[in-house]
Amino acid sequence: MIAPDLDCGIAALRNLIADARKVVPFTGAGISTECGIPDFRSPGGLWTRNRPIPFDEFLARQEMRDESWRRRFAMEENFGGAKPGRGHTALASLYRAGKILALITQNIDNLHQASGIAAQHIIELHGNTTYAVCLDCRERYELPWVKEQFAASGGRAPDCRCGGYIKTATVSFGQAMPAEAMQRAEAAAKTCDLFLAVGSSLVVWPAAGFPLMAKQHGASLVIVNREPTGLDAYADMVLRHDIGDVLEPFIEA
Ligand code: APR
Ligand code: ZN
Repeated sequence: MIAPDLDCGIAALRNLIADARKVVPFTGAGISTECGIPDFRSPGGLWTRNRPIPFDEFLARQEMRDESWRRRFAMEENFGGAKPGRGHTALASLYRAGKILALITQNIDNLHQASGIAAQHIIELHGNTTYAVCLDCRERYELPWVKEQFAASGGRAPDCRCGGYIKTATVSFGQAMPAEAMQRAEAAAKTCDLFLAVGSSLVVWPAAGFPLMAKQHGASLVIVNREPTGLDAYADMVLRHDIGDVLEPFIEA
């Protein structure tokens, strides 16, 4: 059911959260747009400007690895200094109140960690873009080092000491999903009693399967998104409003 208006929706959400033992938020890029980070599929979103680089192309061509790092450092200029928004802050308040035992995110921007939720309670389905790893030996690389090598070589993606390719710790299209994160997300979806999908178009699978899984295991499903999503028909309540406006009342000092 679509909440008739913002205030009714917030009141109904407040009751659902009060009654819930275990809330699992599931966030997408929409929660970070007010922080200056564009989402993917809204007008002007990242995929409306750049075609995603599929994993096989990243592996196959040096120029795709170079382009991938060029885009990453261009991103840094735009939103390297992004701070958590009202949605992140409200979820961190619910976490501190003991309502949230695990938060699932498709986002790679590290803003849930920056909002004060402990990393071990954040399940990153699509990884994290604030550091890099070698695809062969899994050695971790910090971005300033990669940027230095990239600049010194005139824009060539550096390789690992072992010869492996270095990539941001994100999951690209065509790349395997992180097994441990998928298992943890499944456990959270199956055991929560309120699943709160916030700022996702819910069109990318297998991530979009978790709201349905929660519903099938008895949870109430609430979707907060200003546009229709792929799963609105399955939701107990849809709040088609700005995320910051919906969640701001849940921010505890
Ligand atoms: N308030 C409410 N909704 C918002 C706001 C806002 N302030 N800003 C954006 N939105 C909504 C948009 O209307 C859109 O439906 O957030 C949704 C974001 O959807 P997408 O851009 O598709 O992002 P997401 O669902 O996170 O994408 C999933 O796709 O390409 C992959 O790996 C990428 O993790 C990403 C995945
Ligand atoms: Zn290596």
